[in-house]
Amino acid sequence: METIGFLGMGIMGKAMAINLLRHGFKVTVWNRTLSRCDEVVKHGASLGETPAAVVKKCKYTIGMLADPSAALSVVFDKNGVLEQICDGKGYIDMSTVDADTSSKINEAIICRGGTFLEAPVSGSKKPAEDGQLVILAAGEKDLYDQVLPAFDVLGKKSFFLGEVGNGAKMKLVVNMIMGSMMNVFSEGLVLADKSGLEQQTLLDVLDLAAVANPMFKMKGPSMIKNDYSPAFPLKHQQKDMRLALALGDENAVSMPLAAAANEAFKKARSMGLGDLDFSAVHETVKHTKTT
Ligand SMILES: NC(=O)c1ccc[n+]([C@@H]2O[C@H](COP(=O)([O-])OP(=O)(O)OC[C@H]3O[C@@H](n4cnc5c(N)ncnc54)[C@H](OP(=O)(O)O)[C@@H]3O)[C@@H](O)[C@H]2O)c1
Repeated sequence: METIGFLGMGIMGKAMAINLLRHGFKVTVWNRTLSRCDEVVKHGASLGETPAAVVKKCKYTIGMLADPSAALSVVFDKNGVLEQICDGKGYIDMSTVDADTSSKINEAIICRGGTFLEAPVSGSKKPAEDGQLVILAAGEKDLYDQVLPAFDVLGKKSFFLGEVGNGAKMKLVVNMIMGSMMNVFSEGLVLADKSGLEQQTLLDVLDLAAVANPMFKMKGPSMIKNDYSPAFPLKHQQKDMRLALALGDENAVSMPLAAAANEAFKKARSMGLGDLDFSAVHETVKHTKTT
C-alpha cells in the first residue's frame, strides 16, 4: 500500500501510527503541536508540516482528532486537508464526532473530487497499540476496500455500516452505553466500600457474574487504587455523552440514565479531572457528602 498520512498524534493517533509502521507501512504524520510527532518519527515516520502537505504527499490520509471542532479545523482551515484533496485521494476520519460533522467533511471532500470514509473506533489505548480496535466505517465503499489492509492492522474487526453518519451514530451509541456503565460501576465500588465490603472481592464476584465485562476487569483494579492515568480522557467521554444525548434529542429517545451519567462527567470536568481517564468519574461518587 502507498504511504499513509496520519493527522493527530494524541493517545490514539500515536499508537495507531506506530502500529502501522511496525507492520511495514510508510507513514507521514502531522500534529498541531508538532513536538508530539517526535516519538513516531523515531519509529520511522516522516513529518508533514501541515495537513495539506501530508495530503499532497499521500494517496490516503487518516485523521484522529479530539472532537468535532478539531476534525473540522484540520479539514477546512488554512493549510487544511481541503487544499490538497483531489481526484484519486481519500480522507478517512477516525475521530469520534457527530453525524453532522462527518457529513460536512464528506460533502466538502467530494466537491473537490476526493473520497471520504468516517471510521471511528471502539477500543482504547491498549487495543490501539495491539491492533485490536473495532472499526465502525461508513461512506465510500471503494475507499473502504482500498484501505482494508490498514484497517486489518489497526483493528480486530471492521464493520462497513453504509452511508456517512452511520459510523458516527454507532460509535456514539456504544460510548453512551459505556459511559453510563462506568457511572453505575463507580457507584457500586463506593457502595461496597462504605458498607464495609472489600472492593477487590466485589471485583472478583463481578468477574464471575453475568455482568462480567472487559471494562470492569481492566478499570476496576486501577480505580480502587485511585489510578486514573489517561487511556481514554474523561473530557472526550463527556463529549461523547453530549453528542449521544443530542442524537437522542433528534430522535425523541428518552435517555434519563445517560443524561445523569453526562452530569457526572461534567461534574468531574468541573473538578479538574478532564485530562484523566474517564474512570476518574469515580471521584465524583466518592466525594458525595454524607451526613
Ligand atoms: N483514547 C481512547 O481511548 C479513545 C478510544 C476511542 C476513540 N477515541 C476518540 O479518538 C479521538 C482522539 O482521542 P485521543 O484519546 O487520542 O485524544 P487526545 O490524546 O486528547 O488527542 C487529541 C488530538 O487532537 C488534536 N487536536 C485537538 N484540538 C485540535 C485542533 N483544534 N486542531 C488540530 N488538532 C487538534 C490534538 O493535538 P495537540 O497535541 O496539538 O493538542 C491531539 O493530536 C477522540 O475523538 C476520541 O473521542 C479515543
